Amino acid sequence: MHRVGVLGSAVVWQTLARGFQTHGHDVCIGSRTPAKLADFSSTTGIHAATFTEAASWAEIVVLAVHGSTAEEALRLAGADHLAGKIVIDTTNPISDAPPVDGVLQFFTGPNSSLLERLQAAYPHVRTAIRPRTRILYSL
Ligand SMILES: NC(=O)c1ccc[n+]([C@@H]2O[C@H](COP(=O)([O-])OP(=O)(O)OC[C@H]3O[C@@H](n4cnc5c(N)ncnc54)[C@H](OP(=O)(O)O)[C@@H]3O)[C@@H](O)[C@H]2O)c1
Repeated sequence: MHRVGVLGSAVVWQTLARGFQTHGHDVCIGSRTPAKLADFSSTTGIHAATFTEAASWAEIVVLAVHGSTAEEALRLAGADHLAGKIVIDTTNPISDAPPVDGVLQFFTGPNSSLLERLQAAYPHVRTAIRPRTRILYSL
């Protein structure tokens, strides 16, 4: 069993946190404002903390924030707290701009990825994994 720190507090985070907990892992959620998660914590027993605290405590870090804020979330987590750890990246580089003709816009180009950016910024992460679960966004 591992200590899993999930950075993010929306739908994806809640799903992953419950999943890790179901499989017996210790889970901590990270948010800029952990107090807003008090109800969730009391219901599930999952502790809420800041990004820094969650990353520092965790053995495995899951990044589940809005894509355009991924770099900021990792900056708040702290490079020292990520070094040598597995980081699972769930984020999509979806632009904050509205869709064009119904097509979501990415803020990355055709020859780069958000994960590449994050890996370059945090070279001491042990492994960065991008689950390939959003194939539609890649089409
Ligand atoms: N791989 C997949 O299968 C899959 C499936 C669905 C979604 N996704 C991706 O998963 C990610 C999470 O999706 P979601 O819908 O759960 O959440 P979301 O609404 O995209 O993002 C909400 C999270 O972003 C954080 N955030 C917002 N502004 C921030 C800032 N300036 N600095 C740091 N953090 C900030 C919030 O943290 P606070 O708690 O501090 O407000 C909150 O936890 C997205 O990137 C989405 O595209 C992936």
